[in-house]
Amino acid sequence: MNRPMVDARYSGVAVTLHWLIALLVLFNLLVGIGHDAIPALRALMPAHKAAGITVLVLTAARLGWRPRRCPPRFRRGSAARRGRSTACSMCCSSRCRYPAG
Ligand code: HEM
Repeated sequence: MNRPMVDARYSGVAVTLHWLIALLVLFNLLVGIGHDAIPALRALMPAHKAAGITVLVLTAARLGWRPRRCPPRFRRGSAARRGRSTACSMCCSSRCRYPAG
């Protein structure tokens, strides 16, 4: 079986999708929560709906991209970060070839 090697960093596509989705979710939370109290936000409800559907599409794209690239395994940083990284690679990246050590 040809197992992909692990990248040192998340790919540009993964990072871009991550931040696009994060910004759109944040935008939607702010507009969704604030639209009753702040009239100016009410005008943004069509954008809220479009952003929500875009989040769905981008999330599907991210899930489609995920099996093609192996996420980096962080060996430094806090114990919590290393733990998350190891748990993630164990459950989702068994086909990835991590360097020994
Ligand atoms: C990332 C996706 C989304 C997030 C995080 C989000 C978040 C929220 C939040 C926090 C509220 C306020 C709820 C409340 O006051 O009880 C809201 C309201 C609303 N959302 Fe979304 N939403 C998302 C996607 C969508 C989509 C895809 C649609 C429709 C196509 C939509 C339509 C609406 C509408 C119509 C309301 C107003 C409900 C009311 O009358 O109070 N949202 N949203």
